[in-house]
Amino acid sequence: MAYTRKDVSTLTRTERRRFVAAMLEVKRRGEYDEFVRTHIAYYVSDGDGGLRTAHMAPSFLPWHRQFLLELERALRRVDSGVSVPYWDWTRDRTLSSAPWTEDLLGGNGRRFDRQVMTGPFAYAHGKWTVKEGVTDGEFLTRDLGRRDNPIELPTKRELDSALADPVYDKDPWNSTSTEGFRNKLEGWGRGSGSAAWRNHNRVHRWVGGAMLGGASVNDPVFWLHHAFVDFQWSRWRQRHRGARYLPARPPGPVNRQHGRVVARHEGMPPWGVTPDELEDHSRIYRYA
Ligand code: CU
Ligand code: CU
Repeated sequence: MAYTRKDVSTLTRTERRRFVAAMLEVKRRGEYDEFVRTHIAYYVSDGDGGLRTAHMAPSFLPWHRQFLLELERALRRVDSGVSVPYWDWTRDRTLSSAPWTEDLLGGNGRRFDRQVMTGPFAYAHGKWTVKEGVTDGEFLTRDLGRRDNPIELPTKRELDSALADPVYDKDPWNSTSTEGFRNKLEGWGRGSGSAAWRNHNRVHRWVGGAMLGGASVNDPVFWLHHAFVDFQWSRWRQRHRGARYLPARPPGPVNRQHGRVVARHEGMPPWGVTPDELEDHSRIYRYA
């Protein structure tokens, strides 16, 4: 039986408590920091050599889908009734809305060091010590809305313009692809300032603090954000019936992306699962 991933704003008080408890237990077991390390290890960009899997690449969506499934399995070993909720940032756009409540992820960081002081993931409670990719200290940091240089979360309209693209991805299959659903959703734009960051990327920047860079998994909102991004891939497939993950075959030896991107039937490290195998998740989970 497939389980359901729900909108975080609709969770009952019990569902919120159980999700938080499972997260803290996965952290206590040491499994959580393994997820942070994996994400740091796969934070490879266009400028680096070798295979790109997690970001700036077609497999951005399937890589994070599998990554979420792995976390969800760890959570469900603790409590089989838990799944990862999603944060619809086109609707919940303020600092007082879900998921920033005291009983869920806690609120903004304080001004002088951006340290999150409220909620279950506040350092003072002793259950959420940042150990991997430490930049500011062992505490979780946020700067919601970027106080000194404010930005807005992406709008429904901006998200819709990504969903409207009927082609999954296009050559050169990286952060400079101007067409294709994948980069319009992942959000590498041109130029500088806020316009350079769209949809998925802009949300990381709006949250700020730990959510910037390779160690962004340290903030539990990472999973809620990526569940919503994952949901968009499902919606895109429904809207464009028959549209598939691209590239279907690996770029040839003369293409500059040769050996740098994952084709539809190639395995993605570190798991070996292919994008093809991940396109349909309906037997594992559904979105409500
Ligand atoms: Cu990532
Ligand atoms: Cu991300």
